[in-house]
Amino acid sequence: MRIIVAITGATGAAYGVRLLAALEQLGVERHLIVSRWAEVTIPKETGYTAREVGAMASVVHSRDNQGAPMASGSFRHDGMIVAPCSMKTLSAIRFGHADGLIARAADVTLKERRRLVLLPRETPLNEIHLENMLSLTRMGAIIAPPMPGFYTNPKTIDDLIDHTVGRVLDLFGLEMPQLKRWSGMRADREAPTAAELPRIATRGTDHG
Ligand SMILES: Cc1cc2nc3c(=O)[nH]c(=O)nc-3n(C[C@H](O)[C@H](O)[C@H](O)COP(=O)(O)O)c2cc1C
Repeated sequence: MRIIVAITGATGAAYGVRLLAALEQLGVERHLIVSRWAEVTIPKETGYTAREVGAMASVVHSRDNQGAPMASGSFRHDGMIVAPCSMKTLSAIRFGHADGLIARAADVTLKERRRLVLLPRETPLNEIHLENMLSLTRMGAIIAPPMPGFYTNPKTIDDLIDHTVGRVLDLFGLEMPQLKRWSGMRADREAPTAAELPRIATRGTDHG
């Protein structure tokens, strides 16, 4: 299996780094593209240098190399993940503004109807961001914002990151061994009784 990973300059570089490590563990061929601003966020947020992150990939491609293999649809791969995805790159992909290898590779991934997964990171979201995400969803991309789930009772930041990465890998049919899954709630034992519900909920009922 062969996947393209792009890391852009939104906060959350750790998602891209963890993704590379998980893909390596699963024996997936990893083609990495790092944006200029990700070269700033990677050392600032993860403690790794961009070069060290590059060493986690099978091949690193220059973001300016429009002649790289994934700039052509004839280069076969199993999908592309942008983690994290800045609002700038989101917009470039949405509008087909393929100025740079990340947007070009995403453009090609879409035209070839391959899986494109974006982890957009910004908050709050304005109308431009939301419209871009809606358009991209309609075009076939998968918008998978790194929004932590708390139902697995995470203890560390790594737990939160692993959960998001594991759910992204699910989209490619890849099983991350560390992923904690929801296995259901036993209604008789775990669901709160009316008496156990927080007072606020009871008050809501009182108000009808
Ligand atoms: C520390 C830091 C954090 C940033 N966080 C975000 C963010 O969460 N979302 C975003 O869209 N842009 C963020 N930016 C701004 C982007 O880096 C900037 O828009 C850049 O042009 C994106 O280009 P790229 O997509 O080619 O990496 C951040 C910048 C810095 C320096």
